[in-house]
Amino acid sequence: MSDAAETMTAYDLPVKVFETAELASRAAAGKIAEQIRARPAPGRCATLGLATGRTPLRVYEELVRNHRAGLSFANVVTFNLDEYHPIASTHPGSFRSFMKRHLFDQVDLRGDRCHLPDGSLGEAEVEACCRAYEAEIADCGGIDLQLLGLGRNGHIGFNEPGSRRDSRTRRVRLHPTTLADNARAFEDGKVPDGALTMGIGTILEARSILLLVLGARKARTLERMLGGPISRDLPASFLREHEHVEVLADRAAAAALS
Ligand code: F6R
Repeated sequence: MSDAAETMTAYDLPVKVFETAELASRAAAGKIAEQIRARPAPGRCATLGLATGRTPLRVYEELVRNHRAGLSFANVVTFNLDEYHPIASTHPGSFRSFMKRHLFDQVDLRGDRCHLPDGSLGEAEVEACCRAYEAEIADCGGIDLQLLGLGRNGHIGFNEPGSRRDSRTRRVRLHPTTLADNARAFEDGKVPDGALTMGIGTILEARSILLLVLGARKARTLERMLGGPISRDLPASFLREHEHVEVLADRAAAAALS
């Protein structure tokens, strides 16, 4: 039985609305756990696409709880959406450090199966690293389930407004809104101004996608994403062209939907 208070069907994508962020996060964790248990084929790992930021924090908490109650990550491979560039992977603000703190170090995931783009590389090596990231995803058979958060400016991953639908893993410059939103993770407030991110084309190749949207500050963006034109101006709108996307929102984020 679902805890969703309501499922909206008026948009291209189904939207499940939950009374609280907690319930929405628990539902997202439940879907991920289901994917892990369902393992695509004997001998193949479940391949998860993961996100960082405030949105998935409770999802990871719940997955860690599931792990303590018996869920094994021994047959899971993960690919994160993005990493700052330039940044040392051990920097406390790096997405690798974030993932280690909130998930990797707390479950039985194998270290060599946790992938993030390498933000520590010099300019000359970045392009090859991005190509290799795409190849690694393909070698694992593609992503079974991709978890996404929504940027206030409509970004997914770090595909900022203006990103092409067919974009692939690459280096990008971060938008001023993104820099402001992410400054809290850096003691001096100095967020690296670049990142390596999966492209929109990369994300849309995932077999299924969960977009988790929490809080009133995302309400207007979610409404534009679902009800406005599909356009590069709001990269998340491209998700409407994918067959297996589910939006999980809390009541506050869904406030502007009809
Ligand atoms: C994070 C990512 C971003 C975030 C988005 C929302 O890996 O790719 O797209 O999902 O910026 O961030 P929060 O959840 O902090 O509001």
